[in-house]
Amino acid sequence: MANKILIVDDEINVRKMLAKLLEKKYEVDDAKDGVEAVEKLNSGSFGLVISDIQMPRMNGFVLLKEIKATYMALPVILITGYGNIEDAVKAIKLGACDYVTKPFNNDEILFIIEKCLSGVKDHLEAVSMKQCMSLFEVFQKEKETADPDKLLEMILNKSLETINASSGSIMLLKEKERVLEVVVSLGLKKKIDRFIPVGERIAGQLFKEGVPAILHNGLKQYEKFRDIKARSEIFSSMIIPLKNQGKIVGTMNFNRLNTFPYKFTELELNTMELFASYIVTILIQLVAQRKSVELDKLKTEFLGNVSHELRTPLMSIKGAIELMQNSVDKDTEKTLMGIMARNSDRLDRLVQDLLDFSKMGSGTMAYNFQDTAPGGLINELRDEFQNRFKTKNIRFLMDIPENLPLIRADAGRIKQVVSNLLTNAYKFTPENGTVELSVSDEDKKILIKVKDSGIGIPKAEQEQIFERFYQVDGSTTRTAEGTGLGLTITRLIVEAHKGKIRVESDGVPGSGTEFTVLLPKK
Ligand SMILES: Nc1ncnc2c1ncn2[C@@H]1O[C@H](COP(=O)(O)OP(=O)(O)OP(=O)(O)O)[C@@H](O)[C@H]1O
Ligand SMILES: [Mg+2]
Repeated sequence: MANKILIVDDEINVRKMLAKLLEKKYEVDDAKDGVEAVEKLNSGSFGLVISDIQMPRMNGFVLLKEIKATYMALPVILITGYGNIEDAVKAIKLGACDYVTKPFNNDEILFIIEKCLSGVKDHLEAVSMKQCMSLFEVFQKEKETADPDKLLEMILNKSLETINASSGSIMLLKEKERVLEVVVSLGLKKKIDRFIPVGERIAGQLFKEGVPAILHNGLKQYEKFRDIKARSEIFSSMIIPLKNQGKIVGTMNFNRLNTFPYKFTELELNTMELFASYIVTILIQLVAQRKSVELDKLKTEFLGNVSHELRTPLMSIKGAIELMQNSVDKDTEKTLMGIMARNSDRLDRLVQDLLDFSKMGSGTMAYNFQDTAPGGLINELRDEFQNRFKTKNIRFLMDIPENLPLIRADAGRIKQVVSNLLTNAYKFTPENGTVELSVSDEDKKILIKVKDSGIGIPKAEQEQIFERFYQVDGSTTRTAEGTGLGLTITRLIVEAHKGKIRVESDGVPGSGTEFTVLLPKK
């Protein structure tokens, strides 16, 4: 609660009396001296402190100094003796928000507390407004020239500075995939995963709940995070949902490390909420801008790839035709015809992929759904791939049980899905490896798995490979052929069947990859 008040006094009667007065309106807690007060402040969230001056162990002035050193914005009201003007002046000089004199006048105390609480709010709003304005200015100036990455980093950096956080990240929702994408992160030693599924881990869970939170002292004390392993170097964390027109579109996450062991306060949380509400549209704009830059790059690469992919088989065919024009013996003729057939198949597949992609992209793809036996149609691929895998001496294992239940499917398209996955397995598995294709019946789904012992896919890229044109190591140095459309088409087909596709790989070279397609049973 933002307005929780800490009462500090060594006299139990004063604590009781103040608590009784304030309880009606605020949540309260108390401490019997400065030392206990500091302990409570470090482990709880308070919006205001009201403290006596004369106390054993640590007096009110020392406490006030301690508070100002670490919780700058936390308002403190000191209780002075009647007529003791020097103490009152000293209190204000040291940064107290105000003072009250003994004996108390209840209305006066309530009035001063209200004033301090709302004063803080005004102050904070002014501060974050100012920060936002300067951010906006820089943004406006650099929007045209600076790259979105730099601007995103700048926004996060400003936020970290504002609340003295040592690390943090900004995540935005990818609606279709239901994952949070880390659009920028700073300060953490270990890199965080780029994608976090909604509902998983801390950010994913709090995103779902849509409420800001301050976490502290490991995660064991929070029932819902019990199974999540806390990073030992983090002392306090704060998670702020990003709202855009009433909808939650992401989160901002902040951490303080053990080297700065202070818990985030409600006031800081309020500041960041305000800050977040100002910058959310900029964030969305920047990420969209970054996406379009990325897409442009991918498209250029794609065009290069497509030309290359068209040219290579064409050149082979042309070469074979030239050779055939001279008289050749029967055997050579057969070899040359084989080359022409293989390469025109390759061309045909490429053109087919391009057409499919353009139809799927415009939503005009027609499916012919029928009751289909999954085993049978996948078995039809057996010979083709057995032969293909032999050329690289790859062990190809197939496990397809009899009598699998029917699915509602476009047989040709499902074959295309499996064929795409097997082709990838073939391309990205070195000689003498293993590829396993299995189909199983689980609960309400049919699972098709393609597992290889190949080069693996880095974790950070496991979501992106499904994006159009995307290829891991998309530079010209890559040796495998392809345009980066295969998995995009694959996923679109699977989704048209109301199914899902998942990828698993340790990401370590040589550890292999496993794709799983889940299709609903009829
Ligand atoms: N089994 C796999 N092992 C390792 N990397 C893979 C595997 N499957 C896909 N990838 C990675 O994902 C990228 C995208 O795959 P996708 O099938 O979409 O495109 P492609 O195979 O490069 O081209 P296309 O399928 O259009 O001919 C690949 O380029 C590769 O980097
Ligand atoms: Mg492919």
